[in-house]
Amino acid sequence: MLVHIPALLNSDQLAHFRQQLQADHAPWVDGRVTAGHQGVHVKQNQQLAENSGMAIELGQTVLAALERHPLFISAALPNRVYPPMFNRYQGGMHFGSHVDGSIRLLPGTGQKIRTDLSATLFLAPPDSYDGGELLVEDTYGTQTVKLAAGDLILYPASSLHRVNPVTRGMRMACFFWVQSMVRDDGQRTLLFDLDNAIQRLTATQGDEASRVKLTGCYHNLLRMWSDV
Ligand code: NI
Repeated sequence: MLVHIPALLNSDQLAHFRQQLQADHAPWVDGRVTAGHQGVHVKQNQQLAENSGMAIELGQTVLAALERHPLFISAALPNRVYPPMFNRYQGGMHFGSHVDGSIRLLPGTGQKIRTDLSATLFLAPPDSYDGGELLVEDTYGTQTVKLAAGDLILYPASSLHRVNPVTRGMRMACFFWVQSMVRDDGQRTLLFDLDNAIQRLTATQGDEASRVKLTGCYHNLLRMWSDV
Protein backbone atom coordinates (compact mmCIF):
# COMPACT_ATOMS: atom_id res chain seq x y z
CA MET A 1 0.00 0.00 0.00
CA LEU A 2 1.23 3.48 -0.88
CA VAL A 3 -0.05 6.25 1.39
CA HIS A 4 0.23 9.93 0.51
CA ILE A 5 0.40 12.23 3.55
CA PRO A 6 -0.11 15.85 2.46
CA ALA A 7 1.49 18.86 4.15
CA LEU A 8 3.54 17.12 6.84
CA LEU A 9 5.64 20.30 6.99
CA ASN A 10 4.21 23.82 6.75
CA SER A 11 5.61 26.59 4.55
CA ASP A 12 7.66 28.19 7.37
CA GLN A 13 9.31 24.86 8.15
CA LEU A 14 9.97 24.21 4.44
CA ALA A 15 11.60 27.62 4.02
CA HIS A 16 13.86 26.89 7.00
CA PHE A 17 14.75 23.43 5.65
CA ARG A 18 15.61 24.79 2.19
CA GLN A 19 17.66 27.66 3.61
CA GLN A 20 19.67 25.22 5.74
CA LEU A 21 20.12 22.58 3.02
CA GLN A 22 21.25 25.17 0.45
CA ALA A 23 23.70 26.90 2.81
CA ASP A 24 27.40 26.80 1.87
CA HIS A 25 28.26 25.01 5.11
CA ALA A 26 25.70 22.20 4.59
CA PRO A 27 27.74 18.96 4.93
CA TRP A 28 26.80 17.09 1.72
CA VAL A 29 28.64 13.81 1.12
CA ASP A 30 28.49 11.04 -1.48
CA GLY A 31 25.25 9.06 -0.96
CA ARG A 32 27.06 5.75 -1.30
CA VAL A 33 28.36 6.02 2.30
CA THR A 34 25.16 4.37 3.56
CA ALA A 35 24.44 2.09 0.58
CA GLY A 36 24.50 -1.69 0.94
CA HIS A 37 26.03 -4.14 -1.57
CA GLN A 38 23.08 -3.78 -3.90
CA GLY A 39 22.66 -0.01 -3.64
CA VAL A 40 26.30 0.94 -4.07
CA HIS A 41 26.25 0.07 -7.79
CA VAL A 42 23.06 1.95 -8.66
CA LYS A 43 23.08 4.89 -6.24
CA GLN A 44 24.19 8.28 -7.48
CA ASN A 45 23.19 11.17 -5.24
CA GLN A 46 24.37 13.19 -2.26
CA GLN A 47 23.35 12.95 1.37
CA LEU A 48 23.66 15.22 4.36
CA ALA A 49 26.29 13.72 6.69
CA GLU A 50 24.25 11.48 8.99
CA ASN A 51 25.68 12.66 12.32
CA SER A 52 25.89 16.35 11.44
CA GLY A 53 24.14 18.87 13.66
CA MET A 54 22.07 20.00 10.69
CA ALA A 55 20.78 16.50 9.89
CA ILE A 56 19.93 15.91 13.56
CA GLU A 57 18.13 19.26 14.00
CA LEU A 58 16.05 18.97 10.81
CA GLY A 59 15.40 15.29 11.53
CA GLN A 60 13.95 16.14 14.94
CA THR A 61 11.50 18.57 13.32
CA VAL A 62 10.35 15.78 10.98
CA LEU A 63 9.97 13.31 13.88
CA ALA A 64 7.92 15.83 15.87
CA ALA A 65 5.62 16.39 12.87
CA LEU A 66 5.17 12.61 12.44
CA GLU A 67 4.33 12.09 16.11
CA ARG A 68 1.30 14.36 15.94
CA HIS A 69 0.05 13.30 12.51
CA PRO A 70 -2.99 10.97 12.81
CA LEU A 71 -2.75 9.75 9.19
CA PHE A 72 0.89 8.71 9.64
CA ILE A 73 0.09 6.90 12.91
CA SER A 74 -2.91 5.13 11.41
CA ALA A 75 -1.11 4.06 8.22
CA ALA A 76 2.31 3.15 9.65
CA LEU A 77 1.43 1.96 13.19
CA PRO A 78 5.00 2.96 14.03
CA ASN A 79 7.10 1.13 16.57
CA ARG A 80 10.48 2.72 15.79
CA VAL A 81 11.46 5.38 13.27
CA TYR A 82 14.99 5.54 11.88
CA PRO A 83 16.52 9.03 12.31
CA PRO A 84 15.53 10.94 9.14
CA MET A 85 18.23 11.52 6.52
CA PHE A 86 18.39 14.02 3.65
CA ASN A 87 19.41 13.69 0.03
CA ARG A 88 19.69 15.72 -3.16
CA TYR A 89 19.93 14.95 -6.86
CA GLN A 90 21.10 17.27 -9.64
CA GLY A 91 22.87 17.12 -13.02
CA GLY A 92 21.56 13.68 -14.02
CA MET A 93 21.93 12.03 -10.60
CA HIS A 94 19.59 9.08 -10.07
CA PHE A 95 19.08 5.95 -7.99
CA GLY A 96 18.59 2.72 -9.95
CA SER A 97 16.18 -0.07 -9.09
CA HIS A 98 16.72 -1.60 -5.63
CA VAL A 99 15.07 -2.93 -2.48
CA ASP A 100 16.04 -1.22 0.78
CA GLY A 101 18.13 -3.21 3.26
CA SER A 102 15.87 -5.14 5.65
CA ILE A 103 17.72 -4.47 8.92
CA ARG A 104 19.60 -1.30 9.86
CA LEU A 105 21.59 -0.39 12.94
CA LEU A 106 20.28 2.63 14.80
CA PRO A 107 23.25 5.01 14.87
CA GLY A 108 25.10 5.10 18.17
CA THR A 109 22.87 2.60 19.98
CA GLY A 110 23.79 -0.87 18.68
CA GLN A 111 20.02 -1.49 18.39
CA LYS A 112 18.55 -2.86 15.20
CA ILE A 113 15.51 -1.66 13.30
CA ARG A 114 13.55 -3.73 10.78
CA THR A 115 12.58 -1.62 7.79
CA ASP A 116 8.89 -2.39 7.15
CA LEU A 117 8.07 0.95 5.53
CA SER A 118 10.13 3.41 3.51
CA ALA A 119 9.24 7.09 3.52
CA THR A 120 10.18 9.99 1.26
CA LEU A 121 9.34 13.56 2.24
CA PHE A 122 9.60 15.89 -0.76
CA LEU A 123 11.28 19.23 0.03
CA ALA A 124 11.55 20.98 -3.36
CA PRO A 125 8.55 22.25 -5.38
CA PRO A 126 7.93 19.76 -8.25
CA ASP A 127 8.10 22.48 -10.93
CA SER A 128 11.59 23.50 -9.76
CA TYR A 129 13.19 20.33 -11.21
CA ASP A 130 12.69 17.90 -14.10
CA GLY A 131 12.79 14.15 -13.55
CA GLY A 132 13.38 12.88 -10.02
CA GLU A 133 10.16 10.86 -9.89
CA LEU A 134 10.10 8.03 -7.35
CA LEU A 135 8.90 4.86 -9.08
CA VAL A 136 7.55 2.14 -6.80
CA GLU A 137 6.56 -1.30 -8.03
CA ASP A 138 3.52 -2.50 -6.13
CA THR A 139 0.79 -5.08 -6.66
CA TYR A 140 -0.99 -2.86 -9.18
CA GLY A 141 2.04 -2.01 -11.33
CA THR A 142 4.56 0.80 -11.18
CA GLN A 143 3.42 3.90 -9.30
CA THR A 144 5.02 7.25 -10.19
CA VAL A 145 5.38 9.65 -7.28
CA LYS A 146 6.41 13.31 -7.45
CA LEU A 147 4.73 15.29 -4.71
CA ALA A 148 4.36 18.87 -3.54
CA ALA A 149 7.05 20.17 -1.18
CA GLY A 150 6.12 19.15 2.37
CA ASP A 151 4.23 15.99 1.30
CA LEU A 152 5.24 12.49 2.38
CA ILE A 153 4.85 9.12 0.64
CA LEU A 154 4.89 5.87 2.63
CA TYR A 155 5.51 2.62 0.75
CA PRO A 156 6.47 -0.96 1.62
CA ALA A 157 10.25 -1.21 2.10
CA SER A 158 9.99 -4.63 0.43
CA SER A 159 9.07 -3.08 -2.93
CA LEU A 160 11.48 -2.50 -5.82
CA HIS A 161 11.86 1.25 -6.35
CA ARG A 162 14.06 3.79 -8.10
CA VAL A 163 14.50 7.53 -8.63
CA ASN A 164 14.59 8.88 -12.20
CA PRO A 165 17.54 11.07 -13.26
CA VAL A 166 17.16 14.75 -12.39
CA THR A 167 17.81 16.64 -15.63
CA ARG A 168 17.09 20.22 -14.47
CA GLY A 169 17.18 21.92 -11.07
CA MET A 170 17.60 20.06 -7.80
CA ARG A 171 15.49 17.46 -6.06
CA MET A 172 15.84 17.60 -2.26
CA ALA A 173 14.14 15.13 0.02
CA CYS A 174 14.14 13.63 3.48
CA PHE A 175 13.95 9.84 3.75
CA PHE A 176 13.69 7.32 6.56
CA TRP A 177 12.38 3.90 7.51
CA VAL A 178 9.75 2.73 9.96
CA GLN A 179 9.59 -0.49 11.92
CA SER A 180 5.87 -1.00 12.29
CA MET A 181 4.07 -2.70 15.16
CA VAL A 182 2.49 -4.78 12.33
CA ARG A 183 5.19 -6.23 10.08
CA ASP A 184 2.93 -7.55 7.30
CA ASP A 185 1.83 -4.99 4.72
CA GLY A 186 -1.47 -6.79 4.01
CA GLN A 187 -2.45 -6.89 7.69
CA ARG A 188 -1.43 -3.24 8.13
CA THR A 189 -3.51 -2.25 5.10
CA LEU A 190 -6.60 -4.03 6.51
CA LEU A 191 -6.18 -2.22 9.84
CA PHE A 192 -5.81 1.11 8.02
CA ASP A 193 -9.00 0.50 6.01
CA LEU A 194 -10.88 -0.54 9.15
CA ASP A 195 -9.66 2.53 11.03
CA ASN A 196 -10.77 4.78 8.16
CA ALA A 197 -14.23 3.20 8.15
CA ILE A 198 -14.55 3.69 11.93
CA GLN A 199 -13.48 7.34 11.65
CA ARG A 200 -16.08 7.84 8.95
CA LEU A 201 -18.81 6.24 11.05
CA THR A 202 -17.87 8.62 13.86
CA ALA A 203 -17.81 11.69 11.59
CA THR A 204 -21.21 10.85 10.07
CA GLN A 205 -22.74 9.87 13.42
CA GLY A 206 -23.30 6.31 12.23
CA ASP A 207 -24.84 3.61 14.37
CA GLU A 208 -23.13 3.71 17.78
CA ALA A 209 -23.37 -0.02 18.60
CA SER A 210 -21.75 -0.91 15.23
CA ARG A 211 -18.98 1.59 15.81
CA VAL A 212 -18.20 0.14 19.24
CA LYS A 213 -18.12 -3.41 17.82
CA LEU A 214 -15.87 -2.42 14.93
CA THR A 215 -13.52 -0.53 17.26
CA GLY A 216 -13.33 -3.71 19.35
CA CYS A 217 -12.47 -5.72 16.21
CA TYR A 218 -9.77 -3.18 15.33
CA HIS A 219 -8.09 -3.48 18.71
CA ASN A 220 -8.41 -7.23 18.88
CA LEU A 221 -6.82 -7.61 15.43
CA LEU A 222 -4.05 -5.19 16.42
CA ARG A 223 -3.48 -7.23 19.60
CA MET A 224 -3.30 -10.41 17.51
CA TRP A 225 -0.93 -9.07 14.84
CA SER A 226 1.33 -6.59 16.62
CA ASP A 227 4.71 -7.03 18.20
CA VAL A 228 5.95 -4.21 20.39
NI1 NI B 1 15.58 2.96 -1.50
